Amino acid sequence: MLKKGIILLTIPLWLTGCVQKEQSAPNNTHTQIKTQVSVSQTTATSTKTSYSTDSDKVEVVQNPESLSVLINKQNRLPEGYVPSDLVTPNIPYLDSQKEKRKMRKEAAVAIERLFAGAKEQGIILIGVSAFRSYQSQETLFNYYENQDGYQNAVTYSALPGTSEHETGLAIDVTGGNGKCAAEDCFAGTKEAKWLQDHVADYGFIIRYPDNKTTITGYEYEPWHIRYVGTALAKTIMSKGITLEEYYNAVPIIN
Ligand code: DAL
Ligand code: ZN
Ligand code: ZN
Repeated sequence: MLKKGIILLTIPLWLTGCVQKEQSAPNNTHTQIKTQVSVSQTTATSTKTSYSTDSDKVEVVQNPESLSVLINKQNRLPEGYVPSDLVTPNIPYLDSQKEKRKMRKEAAVAIERLFAGAKEQGIILIGVSAFRSYQSQETLFNYYENQDGYQNAVTYSALPGTSEHETGLAIDVTGGNGKCAAEDCFAGTKEAKWLQDHVADYGFIIRYPDNKTTITGYEYEPWHIRYVGTALAKTIMSKGITLEEYYNAVPIIN
């Protein structure tokens, strides 16, 4: 697999300069998504909110501002969506790129508390990548696709419009030494273990757990935490389920 962390460290240098280029990106991404989803006939029974029940379609979510919004390969953000309350949390970051430091206000307050709580217990965390615009996500995905091929890229990188990073509610974090940023070697570190045990107290979930690849559509990402609010986070983390399972959404199989 690619050294994703290294790419994340180097990509911001040219990411911002590539926005224009992305206008001409292929418009067939949703067709591509269709080839990735399962043909499962699972029927959603959740009454909490209506999410995609047709595995052949990518739905546009109606509640992009909701803190519990489900964004995945089958449920995308509306065209042109940008969160309205992005702020920059006061936490240490791995690099200086400004856009990707941002989070939505409630998530920003929560991540500041989480970092402080970790520090009190001797766990030093660093922010790697939080908000990404559609264009940034597109540039990132295109980069991975060029390096690794489409079929591999979709197992760890979201197509633009379908990344939680575009909601301003997700952040990738790593340990204080800055090593293993968004890389598989983060798994099993004391920081990863701390996150697993404590993120819910601060309203976050481990969004792409181990052994849930066929449900989330993504490989294990112990570094990607998603704000959903404390009550929902505690429910999800204590049950060991995913946001898809919480909503009884259609499982996604690569
Ligand atoms: N790595 C996650 C799936 C993203 O690209 O949003
Ligand atoms: Zn589109
Ligand atoms: Zn992430």
